[in-house]
Amino acid sequence: MKLSKINILEALNIARSKIDSLDSELLLSFVKKVERSYLVTHEKEILTATEKKLFFKLVDERESKKPLAYLINQKGFWKNDFYVDSSVLIPRPETEFLVEKILEHNLDGKDLLELGVGSGIISISLGLENEKLNLLGTEKSLNALMIANKNSIRLQAKNIVFINHDWNNKWLFSKMDYIVSNPPYVNENELEGDEDGIWFEPEEALFSKEEGMKDLKTIISKSLNFLKNDGLLFLEHSPFQAKKIIKEAKKAGYSSCKQFKDYNGLLRISVLGI
Ligand SMILES: C[S@@+](CC[C@H](N)C(=O)[O-])C[C@H]1O[C@@H](n2cnc3c(N)ncnc32)[C@H](O)[C@@H]1O
Repeated sequence: MKLSKINILEALNIARSKIDSLDSELLLSFVKKVERSYLVTHEKEILTATEKKLFFKLVDERESKKPLAYLINQKGFWKNDFYVDSSVLIPRPETEFLVEKILEHNLDGKDLLELGVGSGIISISLGLENEKLNLLGTEKSLNALMIANKNSIRLQAKNIVFINHDWNNKWLFSKMDYIVSNPPYVNENELEGDEDGIWFEPEEALFSKEEGMKDLKTIISKSLNFLKNDGLLFLEHSPFQAKKIIKEAKKAGYSSCKQFKDYNGLLRISVLGI
């Protein structure tokens, strides 16, 4: 691209010929550190050479399917914007349903353990909703853990401790009122190959062996001994895994398994009781 002078409208029109119009505007707002509305009211403003270079670099990356959230280091979840980069899974709207289901319970003074916090969206959203809830969040990836901490500090969640822990290793937790996890559950062999941007996300956050069930099975069996009487285990999973979750819950010794459909009518959440 030649570095001749170019204004906001011209830059957007070039970008719109390559990528989605909204994405073009979000990328330029990010580069210029302004609201989207500024772009409309300042169409004739000339981009600096640095802005122009960065903007078209990001447009090219978006064209090659890199997710927008990684390019602007931000994704909205529940009531806040979270910092994200390619070391964490991009928060999914389905996971808000998990938060919603947990919030239906009495959380005052309760202890909640989240397994695999990623960017921290679940724990931080819950912690901000109820300051009387005590949260412990675990994560295997140190890079993800740093991002969860960063988000927790930025959003001033004061009731969460994040620790580095792999659920395949020994568990040394006290008994919890609630355990929650959105573990890796994608069966790599069933991907169509055209999932937009998924290959930019960390594999260890997405894929699980045994048709996507390995980590769910580990969490189901190990959690039983770390739940208080009346404790509950909340899990997000794929709709195709719903029946298998019931089977695993029975096998491990849970007394109940309630399942809930997400906003698309798909069985996405299981709540296991001891
Ligand atoms: C599907 S992502 C969910 C992240 C976040 N909770 C969310 O909902 O966006 C699963 C997370 O579990 C972590 N993870 C995977 N295997 C793990 C293990 N054995 N022990 C602890 N964390 C693990 C991954 O690094 C990833 O951050």
